[in-house]
Amino acid sequence: MLSHYVQQIKTLYSKKTIDIGRLREVASDWGQNDYYDKAEDSDWLLPFWGETSPILRLFRELDTTSLAELACGHGRHAAQILTGNYTAIPSRLFLLDVDRENVSCSARRFANMDLVKVFRNNGFDFRPLKDSSLSAVFCYDAMVHFEYDCVISYLKDTYRVLKPGGRALFHHSNYDKNPGSCYRDNPHWRNFMTSSLFSHVAQRAGMRVLEQVILDWGDADKEDGIDCVTLLERPIRLSGEPNEGRFASLHPSWKRYLASGIRRLKAIRRAP
Ligand SMILES: C[S@@+](CC[C@H](N)C(=O)[O-])C[C@H]1O[C@@H](n2cnc3c(N)ncnc32)[C@H](O)[C@@H]1O
Repeated sequence: MLSHYVQQIKTLYSKKTIDIGRLREVASDWGQNDYYDKAEDSDWLLPFWGETSPILRLFRELDTTSLAELACGHGRHAAQILTGNYTAIPSRLFLLDVDRENVSCSARRFANMDLVKVFRNNGFDFRPLKDSSLSAVFCYDAMVHFEYDCVISYLKDTYRVLKPGGRALFHHSNYDKNPGSCYRDNPHWRNFMTSSLFSHVAQRAGMRVLEQVILDWGDADKEDGIDCVTLLERPIRLSGEPNEGRFASLHPSWKRYLASGIRRLKAIRRAP
C-alpha cells in the first residue's frame, strides 16, 4: 500500500520535471510511419546486426538472461535476438514502447512466445518493470530522437531496473548544434545531446561508463559523428557502502547517506 502511494508521488513529480508536450510530439511522429516496413530490410538491420557492427560488439557484452528493450517499435530487434544467432536467447524479454500501436504490433508478433512480455510505458521511465529485475537493457534508433529530459529520466531509472552488475547499451544523439531547436529541424531528426553530457548524467545516476563509441549516420546524407553508443554498468559494490540485502537496490546517494550514518553510530559506540 505504502509503495503504491510512493509510486503515485513519483509519477506526479516526474510529470512536473518532464515536458510532456514535447514528449508526446516526438512520440506522435513514430506511431504510424512507413519506417517500420523499411526497417526490416537487411540493409537497415546491418548497422546493428552486421558482423562488423560496433553495436553488435557491445551488445555481446550484455548478459541477456533478463533483457529489456526500450522503444521496441515493431519488434525487429527482438526478432533477431530470438533467432539465437547473436547471443543466448533470454529467459525473459521485456519490450517497452510509448506508442499504443507499436505495443499492439509487437504483442501480436510475439503472442506465442511466453518469454516475451510487451508493455506500454509512460515515455520517461521503465515502469512497470521492477527494481533490480534486469540483467540488461538496450535501446537502438529511438533515444537519438528523445528530448534531453526524457533521456535523463531514463538514465536515472536505468539504475533502478538493473541488478547490480547489470548493463545498459544506449544508442543516443551526439548532436550539439542548434540548441533549443525542434528535433525535426536537425539532420536525421537528432535531438540535442552529447556523448559527454550523457556520460556525466549516467555517472551522476550511479552508473559506470564502460565504453562510448561515436558513430556516423546515413548513406548519401551521411553525418559524421552525429550519434554515440554508450555501454553502462550498475556497479556491484561501491566501496565502504552498505550494498547487501534490503540496501541492494538503493540509489548510491542514499547508500552514501546511510554509510555516513553507520560510521557516525560506530564512532559513538567506540567512544569511551
Ligand atoms: C524510429 S522508431 C525505432 C523503433 C525500434 N527501436 C527500431 O529500431 O526498430 C522510434 C521508436 O521510439 C518510440 N518512442 C518515441 N518516444 C518515446 C519515448 N519517450 N519513450 C519510449 N518510446 C518512445 C516510438 O514509439 C518508436 O517505436
